[in-house]
Amino acid sequence: MHAWKVHAVRVTSPERGLVLLTATASDPLARPGLASAPAALLSALIGVLENGGAWVMDLRLVPHWLIAGATRSGKSTLLARLITQLAPQQVALVGIDCKGGMELGLFAGRLSALTTCRREAVAVLAALVLDMQDRMRACRTAGFRSIWELPDKLRPIPVVVIVDELAELYLSDGRRESKAEAEQCSTLLLRLAQLGVALGMHLVVAGQRVGSDLGPGVTALRAQLGGRICHRVNDPGTAEITLGDLNKDAVVVAQSITQDEKGVAVCTGPEGGWSRARSHLTSTEEASATARKYAAMTPELPAIDLALAALEGGAE
Ligand SMILES: Nc1ncnc2c1ncn2[C@@H]1O[C@H](COP(=O)(O)OP(=O)(O)O)[C@@H](O)[C@H]1O
Ligand SMILES: [Mg+2]
Repeated sequence: MHAWKVHAVRVTSPERGLVLLTATASDPLARPGLASAPAALLSALIGVLENGGAWVMDLRLVPHWLIAGATRSGKSTLLARLITQLAPQQVALVGIDCKGGMELGLFAGRLSALTTCRREAVAVLAALVLDMQDRMRACRTAGFRSIWELPDKLRPIPVVVIVDELAELYLSDGRRESKAEAEQCSTLLLRLAQLGVALGMHLVVAGQRVGSDLGPGVTALRAQLGGRICHRVNDPGTAEITLGDLNKDAVVVAQSITQDEKGVAVCTGPEGGWSRARSHLTSTEEASATARKYAAMTPELPAIDLALAALEGGAE
């Protein structure tokens, strides 16, 4: 009799009547190599999949993403990688970081807008929703159903809205204004997610908590965020919420990610599959240097600038 030590055994059924047993001798993500992928608009090479393939987030294929994970599980590093990959592209990046801009502030030079509190976030999201309505009109006038059918010179620039810590947008301290603001945020995010797909508006939302304890709006938003990434979680429920409606096996694998496996996550693929994967470690220095390098490519979004200026005026 032989006994082998293996890293993992996975039993899957890729098609009816077929059972696939996969055993790996060691964790391919412990020391991942560099995968490569062709550069394409709105596509970002994030890291490697467990099978050695490239882990790509392609916003043209999957427009909106939810990224869950405990503190220090790798969420902000993943966002830094995404920004580094999108920075050289013709896209507008909007950062919403209501923990005072600690994470996304590093990339300010390449962001068309950065909001550091919820009041600003509401103003920016409202301006984006208005802009989206302009885009809708432009498409309708031209007789198209999406901005991608418009001729190049008429096509508005795609916008990727990146949120670090979703809970900051939904929690309220009980005051009436705070509750109203949270509800506004929730309505606007949902609107962007629902209509943004055809109009080149994308949402990438990271959070430690993504459940309905944040309010009823979160469940509706989650349903619109088709792409899912789950890092190590503190409570099994968060993995269930993030991946449960997609695949039970994925939930179990996500729940078994340990504290030492920084940047390891379970991610969904474009065709409904899922994989264990690991992001490339992008240092904040590297990310902010890339953001600085491409700062001149940052598109102006005048409607947002106006909305933020009005806010400042109003606050005085
Ligand atoms: N893909 C990765 N590979 C190696 N180390 C990573 C990776 N992602 C994150 N880390 C490490 O984990 C730390 C915490 O990650 P971070 O992205 O800040 O977590 P979060 O935003 O979820 O709190 C980082 O400072 C980095 O040292
Ligand atoms: Mg973080």
